[in-house]
Amino acid sequence: MPTLTIMPSGKTIEANEGASVLETLLGAGEPIGHKCDGKAECGSCHIFVQEGRKGISRMTPEENAKLDTIVGVGSKSRLACQIRLGSEPVTVELLGEFSGL
Ligand code: FES
Repeated sequence: MPTLTIMPSGKTIEANEGASVLETLLGAGEPIGHKCDGKAECGSCHIFVQEGRKGISRMTPEENAKLDTIVGVGSKSRLACQIRLGSEPVTVELLGEFSGL
């Protein structure tokens, strides 16, 4: 069973293989944007994947296109709704108003 560690809080939650990061965060009561309900259209679930990038699903063309429209995107940027977890632990960083800072 994979784990998902959330920065900056450092909280770690258990996740299900094949679940999206967005589903996992919402299921644990973590605040994260999801205005389009996971269709890679709004960009409000933008996060940084700090660790475990090799074990998660690859970026789709739709996700890549949406990320191109978001200010502040970096090499670790992903959309939480588009990431499917594998069996490895993953660490993500919540951004902006959802970071808890
Ligand atoms: S929920 Fe809209 S892009 Fe992820």
